[in-house]
Amino acid sequence: MRELAEKFTQAFGPSGNEKEIRDIIKKEIKNYVDEIYVDNLGSLIAHKKGKGKKLLFAAHMDEIGIIVTHIDEKGFIRFAPVGGVYPIISLGQRIQFGNGQKGVIGVEFKDIPRDKIPPLSKMFIDIGASSKKDVEKTVNIGDMACFTREFVDLGKKWVSKAMDDRLCCAAIVKAIKNIKKTVNDLYFVFTVQEEVGLRGGKTSTYSVDPDLAIAVDVTGTGDTPKGFTMAVALGEGPALKIMDYSIVVTEKVKTFMKKVADKNKIPVQMEILQFGGTDAGAMQMTKGGISSGCISIPTRYIHTPGETVDKDDVEKTVKWIVSLSETDISKEGFGNKK
Ligand code: CO
Ligand code: ZN
Repeated sequence: MRELAEKFTQAFGPSGNEKEIRDIIKKEIKNYVDEIYVDNLGSLIAHKKGKGKKLLFAAHMDEIGIIVTHIDEKGFIRFAPVGGVYPIISLGQRIQFGNGQKGVIGVEFKDIPRDKIPPLSKMFIDIGASSKKDVEKTVNIGDMACFTREFVDLGKKWVSKAMDDRLCCAAIVKAIKNIKKTVNDLYFVFTVQEEVGLRGGKTSTYSVDPDLAIAVDVTGTGDTPKGFTMAVALGEGPALKIMDYSIVVTEKVKTFMKKVADKNKIPVQMEILQFGGTDAGAMQMTKGGISSGCISIPTRYIHTPGETVDKDDVEKTVKWIVSLSETDISKEGFGNKK
């Protein structure tokens, strides 16, 4: 699991630029599924055929990043955020473009008091170039870059950039390899452009038209000094999403997911996230409404290059995905026309 998590999180892939991570995932799972294809937006859809109802799992491949908006004569690059990139975590970070070009984020120090957090508009990227022409050899307007930071194994906890949501991509991949037999018709979707508006989740769910859709994503925790007021902590198991800004999970979906967790002795925390959303929200609002839920992996410091998780939570998440996959959802009332 660790190797998979490291390989996935370290790959490059801001929203709309998911090719590198998509190729890695495709290679990992192609021998374990019956059919695999890429849709028009770039989401990777893997199908493990079954005679029963359609059950879909989704995790997003994209990560937050920045996009180049302007290059000045001296070779300093101005940028805009792609997804939730906050000034508080940006200054001094190292970034990398898709072609491997590296850089660092600097700030207009002269006008900004040291104890104030400047906006992104006062920051710039320095790639070590001496002029605009020099920059344009490797970086141009519209290019995207991501934060870089190596994967660190702290024993029980792991730290990396892009745990959101590559860790959940890795959990689904591990689950695909562990599923033994199922009557459900299984779809595993690795979506694009979640961080900029839950886009790939919406379109892929529309085309698959599942009877039950479950997103797998990270969620915040309330277990750090003056952290969020929420009853989710690292190391106490995966979380069952109740609500976030994008979704209120229906009673039927919650009850089913909890029942399967209980039956398989998987400890589950209840998640109410008071900010942010997930693909589950877009999936639920597709067509005439799709039964949708979400498994969340508790994560500290989300949307920083130091996203921190507990490895036992990851293992239990894999077990939960496998258990849900192996439970006949037609017997739970999903997809039965009434
Ligand atoms: Co995110
Ligand atoms: Zn996410």
